[in-house]
Amino acid sequence: MVLPSINPTTTQAWKALQNHFESVKDLEMKNLFEKNKERANNLSLKWEDFFVDFSKNRITEETLSLLLDLAKQVNLKEAISAYFDGEIINQTENRAVLHTALRGKITDNVIVDGKNVMPEIFEVKSKIEKFSNQIINGELKGYTGKEFKTIVNIGIGGSDLGPAMVVDTLQFYKNHLTTHFVSNVDGDHVNEVLKKLDPETTLFVIVSKTFTTQETLSNATTIKNWFLNHANKSDVAKHFVAVSTNIEKVKGFGIDENNIFPMWNWVGGRFSLWSAVGLSISLAVGFKNFDKLLEGANKMDLHFKNEAFENNIPVILSLLTIWYNNFFNAESEAVIGYSQYLNQFATYLQQGIMESNGKSIDRNGERVNYQTGTLIWGEPGTNSQHAFFQLIHQGTKLIPADFIGFAQSLHGNQEHQDKLISNYIAQTEALLNGKTKAQVKAELEKTKLSTSEIEKLLPYKVFEGNKPTNSIFIKKLTPESLGKLIALYEHKIFVQGIIWNIFSYDQFGVELGKQLANNILKDMSSGNFDSHDRSTKNILQFYNDFK
Ligand code: F6P
Repeated sequence: MVLPSINPTTTQAWKALQNHFESVKDLEMKNLFEKNKERANNLSLKWEDFFVDFSKNRITEETLSLLLDLAKQVNLKEAISAYFDGEIINQTENRAVLHTALRGKITDNVIVDGKNVMPEIFEVKSKIEKFSNQIINGELKGYTGKEFKTIVNIGIGGSDLGPAMVVDTLQFYKNHLTTHFVSNVDGDHVNEVLKKLDPETTLFVIVSKTFTTQETLSNATTIKNWFLNHANKSDVAKHFVAVSTNIEKVKGFGIDENNIFPMWNWVGGRFSLWSAVGLSISLAVGFKNFDKLLEGANKMDLHFKNEAFENNIPVILSLLTIWYNNFFNAESEAVIGYSQYLNQFATYLQQGIMESNGKSIDRNGERVNYQTGTLIWGEPGTNSQHAFFQLIHQGTKLIPADFIGFAQSLHGNQEHQDKLISNYIAQTEALLNGKTKAQVKAELEKTKLSTSEIEKLLPYKVFEGNKPTNSIFIKKLTPESLGKLIALYEHKIFVQGIIWNIFSYDQFGVELGKQLANNILKDMSSGNFDSHDRSTKNILQFYNDFK
């Protein structure tokens, strides 16, 4: 066994945390701030261009110290070494987990199967660089001699969400190329994109680690057929490239061998944007910016690998999640970016976090007797304030939230920026302090309402407060700072998986649905639904009648 396999609930720290929880669960954060004037300074971290304030959490210094004990007692340090050293920590698939190597330095030495993988990584990076430059500067042309104007990324899951999120987040840094993403097997998705395309000036990037994914192959085939309505078979080589580990299948699809960007089975799909899966990123914002993204992630890797746990941002944020998930029984976490550029960030994190840690069998093969993976959701502020913040402020559920913001706006409209950031800060303050009965009463007494009307209205206007938030404040959105931010959450996933004693890097839970969809597809063409339960049969019949 490469990773430790300790049931966290059997550790001394867990038991101590359970006792401790009983004594602190009702504490009011605002009182903790009153009692300890140093709290905000003690419970915050400054690192590079990041400021992480975690003082607005329902913890005391003792809570933190017990959580740090837990990290030690599950052997987190050893697990981190195994992760970075390329040990087979994805044991159920017998693979190393080395997305960190993709953003490493050429001088690093990362051994997989007795071989240093860094030269290969840099060879593929050079290929990405050369190809991106040639497309961006117009050196490579389409089948009628025109320069490329549009890029279409065809992929799903990790082969879509990472590149799509980064391209959208870094749109300020984009060049003249327009980028589209086709993912859903829904034919209406691909057709809506095709409507916008000119075959003469469009480059298609098919991304599939396995090159067996139904959605991607269906979309790629539809697109290739559409292309062949305009061009000849020999033109495919100019317009289609692929990213995959499955070179034979890609060739079988008709893609020129020179147009294949390889990746490796030690890169998990949901952690793959740093590999050639990020080709669309490099095309959209240029290789230099893509490389800066990698550089930022590498800085976070080194911070995570080397920093003491008490100053380690991913470790601290993971421990807080454990605290709420396993002691307060909070079910979900919100991620609220105070930047419209972070529009797709929560969606992207959903795959990373829920596909990784949505597991119920531990590393000993036993069913866990505690809660694992959190539900992740969120939308940018201020939009989300006008949508679901009501529930966070006054609902019955405890929803810890990460607030992410950038001190500088990219277009430099200071008036908007001040308004945006005042909302960011105000929300975390409101969630912390709430609004007491006395405060509400004093406010209502200034209105024309009668005493009895005030009494009636009062309870509805009270905010309990004491709702936990982390404030992640970053100087400016750049490719580098985005790389750091994504890597932060990747490492948070890792730490939580280690503590929950689960395997974070497989995703067997997505298989059953895929298998059944194939069976149903067969039954749809035969029209025989007898093998299904009554409910499924009725649904199939309805589809059959109305399609
Ligand atoms: O949804 C399951 C999954 O295997 C993801 O983990 C992966 O990112 C996605 O499908 C796409 O897989 P591929 O890149 O092999 O097409």
